[in-house]
Amino acid sequence: MSATSGGPVETLRVRGPARALDGDVTVPGDKSIGHRSVLFAAIANGSVTVRGLSGGEDNRSTIGVLRALGVAIRDVAAGVVEVDGRGLDGLRAAASDLDCGNSGTSMRLFAGLLASRPFASRLVGDQYLHARPMKRVVEPLTQMGARITGQSGKKAGEVYPPLEIAAAQGRLHGIRYESRVASAQVKSAIVLAALAADGPTTVVEPERSRDHTERMLSHMGAPLTVGGLAVTVDPRGWDGRLAARDLAVPGDLSSAAFLLGAAAVVPKSRIVVRGVGVNPTRTGVLDALRAMGAHIEIADERLVGGEPVADLSCTGGALRGITIAGELTVRAIDELPLLAAVAAHAEGDTHIRDAAELRVKESDRIAATAAMLRALGVEVEEHPDGLTVRGGRGARAGTVESHGDHRIAMAGAVCALGAAGETLIRDTKNVATSFPGFAPALAALGADLG
Ligand code: S3P
Repeated sequence: MSATSGGPVETLRVRGPARALDGDVTVPGDKSIGHRSVLFAAIANGSVTVRGLSGGEDNRSTIGVLRALGVAIRDVAAGVVEVDGRGLDGLRAAASDLDCGNSGTSMRLFAGLLASRPFASRLVGDQYLHARPMKRVVEPLTQMGARITGQSGKKAGEVYPPLEIAAAQGRLHGIRYESRVASAQVKSAIVLAALAADGPTTVVEPERSRDHTERMLSHMGAPLTVGGLAVTVDPRGWDGRLAARDLAVPGDLSSAAFLLGAAAVVPKSRIVVRGVGVNPTRTGVLDALRAMGAHIEIADERLVGGEPVADLSCTGGALRGITIAGELTVRAIDELPLLAAVAAHAEGDTHIRDAAELRVKESDRIAATAAMLRALGVEVEEHPDGLTVRGGRGARAGTVESHGDHRIAMAGAVCALGAAGETLIRDTKNVATSFPGFAPALAALGADLG
């Protein structure tokens, strides 16, 4: 193991420049699909086995909240749980606060689910989650008739956790909602509330965000249709039952991306990551790495539980700077820190735009990525909605702060693989929220971590 423990701060050491990475690996289950698998299983009518869960802390938070709501979830093997689905009306009031930990997806999806329940709930999380905006879900849910109050905070008019959700009196109302942000969490919160509304609800996004909720709920028989950028739920005439179907979670492309990015950065590398989700709403990182000059191959594509899955390989090549904007930004939203780290090793500038959402992730990822790159000697400009990374000069070893953010820690490690000397990545415990086993996986590919 490469991570050294020292009280609350765990430091990862990366010695570069790394020799060619080589190997054939798998990554833990997809975090987004994992949340939805256990949550939707809990409101299905019957028992569901979910396989391939990551064991990451964010998914554990969702499981913890469901247990607190009276759902029996048994850990039967590594990555396998059995969920006794209680039906939409089977959830029970929790005896205490519902702890979402670091997970924004948990908090926003539970806000939508619990808004229609006839009991009160209180959603809490860690210090980072308590700094994240919740108005984006509180506003549409309130329009549907829910009563949710949060806290004031850093930005005037914004709503922050903890969220107090009052017991619903009667059914929620269907609405048409045009979301200002392309957000799968907002879309999913509205869809979950809409399942128990008295009429149809349509949510329209400015760009298509990840569509796991639509795929999975349709697969389970929910009254949901998709047309262009609009998702409609019409529960009229529906019996309210979701079919209990066993679910398999593919490997997380957002985790695989760090390994693929590492192979792109280290000359002569060739790695394979097997069994990774390649839902087209998520594959922006593959398009971007290709455009930068990395050789990415997608092999043996198959459908697992309605989600496309494939084996991915990456062979490093000469890298060049690119522009990432518009829908590509949305399809690579969680991989932008990693792409910025790769861009440091490319010839020419990389422009990341239309990414203001990064400011309200687990950290301000625009500021944290810029700080990470500067700590490694890379020239970078910050913009309100993105970054310009000045490539061509490579990186040098340094000390990187994660800002409590798993993806900044991992992006820093990837960037440091191409820098001569020892880099310290500080505060890396958070990596376990999404990619437990990141450091051993990188070491298994040949990186010197310590
Ligand atoms: C997620 C949606 C995205 C993404 C997050 C996971 C999800 O957030 O960044 O890591 O599982 O729905 P937004 O919905 O805020 O864009």
